[in-house]
Amino acid sequence: EYIYRLRGIKHLEEQLKKKLDIHEVKIVSGNFEEDEYVLTDIGKATASYIENIIDDSSIIGITGGTTMAAVAKGITRASKNNNIVVVPARGGIGKDVENQSNTVAAEMARRLKCQYQLLHASDTLGQQALESILQDPEIKKVTNIIKSVNLLIFGIGRADKMAQRREMSVEIVEKLKELKAVAEAFGYYFTREGKIVYEMKTVGISFKDFEKISTVIGVAGGANKAEAIVSISKLKKSMILITDEAAALEILEKY
Ligand code: G3H
Repeated sequence: EYIYRLRGIKHLEEQLKKKLDIHEVKIVSGNFEEDEYVLTDIGKATASYIENIIDDSSIIGITGGTTMAAVAKGITRASKNNNIVVVPARGGIGKDVENQSNTVAAEMARRLKCQYQLLHASDTLGQQALESILQDPEIKKVTNIIKSVNLLIFGIGRADKMAQRREMSVEIVEKLKELKAVAEAFGYYFTREGKIVYEMKTVGISFKDFEKISTVIGVAGGANKAEAIVSISKLKKSMILITDEAAALEILEKY
């Protein structure tokens, strides 16, 4: 039965990879929305993928969110390369310290036994404050490392849910709806076709940087994120997607 199921998942991965037209797809069995352990499994699958590809030259950028927190917790093997650095990809979000990119980056580095750098910039800063903070030598040092990230691991969110979590104003929420934003990743909001319609003002990785990063791993589970995953898969053909069975089936059926 196990072999049968494994073959089933392999087949599903092939189908989804073809459908989304991306480099690689990894699927964890189950449904994240019905079983909280599926999130742990997604985290472990992503962590072991990372453990296998990192080397001495890896500069790892990671975003925040519950999925990325599970990825950091999924790391079980300390790296033999102490040159590896982990940085948060973008400014932290919200009040939930546990899932902020800084916390996630520090936790991942602790488990990998490698170096890390934190970004001390709130994403609620206005344009002027943001510009002046970017002149700060400490922030500059970290943003320079962020510019040289060569492995990015990021969470994929629904535009509506992320706007809610970030407590965006009614005007912006309405605007996002009007502009047909369905997905959010590293502070950007995208339509189903992968077009940017809104960008959060914060420090860290820009979309231009994203396009240049050699290895990017997007992670998300649950059928309700299907459309968001479809959108984000349009951004980069070399992307690796790690998801669950429920999201995979929903994408194959509906999109
Ligand atoms: O940008 C998207 C979010 O990081 C997704 O957050 O993993 O908590 O759903 P989540």
